[in-house]
Amino acid sequence: MTSQYSSRPAPIGVFDSGFGGLSILREIRKVLPQYDYIFLGDNARAPYGNRSFQLVYEFTLQAVKHLFAQGCHLVILACNTASAKALRSIQQRDLCRLDPDRRVLGVIRPTVEAIGNITKSGKVGIFGTPGTVQSLSYDIEIAKMHPHIKVYSHACPMWVPLVENRESDSPGADYFVKKDVDALMSQCNDIDSIILGCTHYPLLYDKIRKYTPQNVQIIEQGPIVAASLQDYLCRHPEMEQRCTRGGTCQYCTTEDASRFSPLASIFVNHTVEAKHVILS
Ligand code: DGL
Repeated sequence: MTSQYSSRPAPIGVFDSGFGGLSILREIRKVLPQYDYIFLGDNARAPYGNRSFQLVYEFTLQAVKHLFAQGCHLVILACNTASAKALRSIQQRDLCRLDPDRRVLGVIRPTVEAIGNITKSGKVGIFGTPGTVQSLSYDIEIAKMHPHIKVYSHACPMWVPLVENRESDSPGADYFVKKDVDALMSQCNDIDSIILGCTHYPLLYDKIRKYTPQNVQIIEQGPIVAASLQDYLCRHPEMEQRCTRGGTCQYCTTEDASRFSPLASIFVNHTVEAKHVILS
């Protein structure tokens, strides 16, 4: 089968519904600064967390196709909701027809792999979007890989809108973060680690830390996903050779670029000049 996409080496694609994926991209670029990247945020349609399986799948597939059309051979879904609701279908159903040599990787599996070495009590909390929590993806994957670990999840439907609406430093954020941390911790007082199972949540890290008991570790996915990608590229030299090495990053958003760029610049600590794209 001949692919409709260019076979030339290209940047690595990183996708999220919005700003959250930047928390993953930032860590990936620390560990793998030599590669080129294209970041795509579907900010115009975020949050994904309350949307149906079908819609998250359709939006994510559009994003993957867009990144493939830009030449990317490897796409990271830097989004738990998309990883929970769309990744498997895309890997099993769509890739063989789009281009069996391209790859799409998610963030849930590397996080689950890492948690076994982190918890001591075997009681792990997860904060996620309603979609991620309802999908039970973490519960299922952790039960398979670490059957001794007990999972306590809590959905935080207000956290992504706080980030997307630039309210993460507001008193409103304090109210919702405290309420949700208390709700998770009330499920079990022996939880010793909490996974931030949504890539937007590191952008609320200071507030989450403030209301979480000090003895509880808060686990961000960025460093975990970055290490896992590094390992993947070592194990797959055929893919590594298809990733260009210029150290650049292009930013694309489905929102108005002038709305996206200022906040993205703060998150990644350098000036971002984003391009507006339309997904269909
Ligand atoms: N940042 C995404 C995640 O990791 C999606 C958040 C959303 O759009 O609701 O789940």
